[in-house]
Amino acid sequence: MDKVRYGVIGVGMGKAHMFGIRENTNAELVAMCDTNEERMADCLKSFPGVATYTDYRELLKRDDLDAVVVATPDQLHREMTLAALDAGKHVLCEKPMALTLDDCQAMIDASRKTDKKLMIGQIGRFTPGFKRAKELIDNGEIGDLFFVESEYAHDYSKIPGKFSNWRLDPLRHGFLGGGCHAVDLVRWIAGNPYEIAAFANKKMLTTWPTDDCTIAIMKFPNDVIGKVFVSIGCKRNYTMRSVFYGSKGTIIVDNTNPTMQVFKTESDCGFTVPMLYPIALNNHNTKGEIAAFTDVILNGTPLEMDAVQGACTVKAALAAVESSKTGQVVKVDYNF
Ligand SMILES: NC(=O)c1ccc[n+]([C@@H]2O[C@H](COP(=O)([O-])OP(=O)(O)OC[C@H]3O[C@@H](n4cnc5c(N)ncnc54)[C@H](O)[C@@H]3O)[C@@H](O)[C@H]2O)c1
Repeated sequence: MDKVRYGVIGVGMGKAHMFGIRENTNAELVAMCDTNEERMADCLKSFPGVATYTDYRELLKRDDLDAVVVATPDQLHREMTLAALDAGKHVLCEKPMALTLDDCQAMIDASRKTDKKLMIGQIGRFTPGFKRAKELIDNGEIGDLFFVESEYAHDYSKIPGKFSNWRLDPLRHGFLGGGCHAVDLVRWIAGNPYEIAAFANKKMLTTWPTDDCTIAIMKFPNDVIGKVFVSIGCKRNYTMRSVFYGSKGTIIVDNTNPTMQVFKTESDCGFTVPMLYPIALNNHNTKGEIAAFTDVILNGTPLEMDAVQGACTVKAALAAVESSKTGQVVKVDYNF
């Protein structure tokens, strides 16, 4: 195989994946599927000649597809991923992997049984600033981590509408639906949090079925502690400001700020001054994500953001939701 031939199911966020596929010389976009024909017709203007389907099962019958991107509402991830794996396709499934742990386990089991790759689209791992921060931390630049924090601050009052009412599902708590980006980021940096306590309220999206603001504090391996703040109703631009504190320095990185700050150097006056790193702003680096998945399929590169990783992020997020409801600290294991 010299190219991975892709189909994309769901052409909202899926359209961004289609651009990512087109920008990769080892990938080819063959087919797309959406129940909304108007939306597909619009996509065809950018991707002329790509086959269109309104039933994903028909798309999956194609022998000339190696992989599919599942970019439909979260509630459909399990059904479509299982069908695609069963049809012999590798799958890149959007985040969150699913809304329940049962669904996550079924998807893990199916990928093990079929021996097909299942990647979860936690795209924060491809955001240039977060990637750079992770490299610096792994290289020991800020020493021994002791505190990590990330946030997902968004205003969902603008999102529901023509395509998006599926977000108004009691199972799709904001801490899981969008907040999984921040949860996955701290997990990527500090490992799996094993104790989680959280508080939540609902003062902004008052008709929403779940709380809209949550703060979770977490204990990680190696005596690291951390916090994740998620608001889906705040009045500001979408941001994931994140700070990583280590024994030798501190990194402040925000997906909306083109400068990453690394505090390390002692200045003459005794204050720690930041080194400023220019960072490309790219919140939806589907080009990087598709490149990684294509490399996994073509060259057998290890799959980092696999189904178990996706499920661990869901489990940590759901533990925070549980804690915010029960008032109890939740202990979490990660056996999938
Ligand atoms: N990685 C990110 O940063 C990011 C950003 C936005 C959304 N997402 C995720 O991407 C997924 C899609 O979100 P979105 O914002 O594109 O939502 P959306 O509502 O804009 O688009 C979903 C599309 O799926 C289509 N669809 C629904 N049911 C279908 C079916 N049975 N068969 C085929 N198509 C169907 C809809 O017609 C719609 O066009 C969700 O899982 C979401 O959480 C990820």
